[in-house]
Amino acid sequence: MQMDPLIEQSYYYNERASEYDECFERIGRYDRGDENNRRWLDAVQAVRAEIDAFRPTGNVLELAPGTGNWTWQLSKHADRVVAVDFSESMLHVCRQKVKSRNVEYLQADIFSFQPSEQFDTIFFGLWISHVPKEKAADFWAMVASALKSGGRVLFVDTLPNPIITAHDHEMPNGSTEIERRKLNDGRSFQIVKRYFTPTSIQMELELLGWKCSAKSIDDCFLFATAEPDT
Ligand SMILES: C[S@@+](CC[C@H](N)C(=O)[O-])C[C@H]1O[C@@H](n2cnc3c(N)ncnc32)[C@H](O)[C@@H]1O
Repeated sequence: MQMDPLIEQSYYYNERASEYDECFERIGRYDRGDENNRRWLDAVQAVRAEIDAFRPTGNVLELAPGTGNWTWQLSKHADRVVAVDFSESMLHVCRQKVKSRNVEYLQADIFSFQPSEQFDTIFFGLWISHVPKEKAADFWAMVASALKSGGRVLFVDTLPNPIITAHDHEMPNGSTEIERRKLNDGRSFQIVKRYFTPTSIQMELELLGWKCSAKSIDDCFLFATAEPDT
């Protein structure tokens, strides 16, 4: 029997927590050679510079923090970060790594998450690509409900560049939202992965009542800011 890809995707990330940072650090199956590794690492630094320039201050909600690759950076600007992820093992790694006193952790499924407060900034890294198209409107309505008046949304994701994924992952053919991903031990899982261009995310958000400004960074990242179009 086929499992719901959203459930399979949450299992995949929970099982991947201890090896997740191999992707960010370009080691193991994510080592794509010196030149490509350098391109990725430079692109991550360029994204970090953009986040610093944006200054995610005040009360910040981070959706899907994973192992905290952006959480520690957000915590330097924010008064307080509330980090919401479904995976207990991801949150465990994040807690160990980030160690900032102003970060609070919440284990919850984003697709049923009902924020109990409003935030100055909402951030998500490498998450919007995992939201299926049929759930996009509900997801963005939840984000709007969690945003203070005048608040800002910032998100980053990866572009469909073959140097980014593991060498034993197949690149998507563009006809489906579902991709198959592997762990180091060979187990494989279906996940949702929607790739956006700056133009396609702007168009999708415009239809959902948001003003979005997006750009690509070094052919590796989509970097976007958004606010409700009131
Ligand atoms: C690609 S990782 C992104 C992690 C981190 N933001 C980054 O940029 O490295 C996706 C994250 O989404 C989390 N996740 C997957 N499905 C979820 C769900 N339904 N609700 C909450 N978190 C979920 C996973 O546990 C994982 O931490």
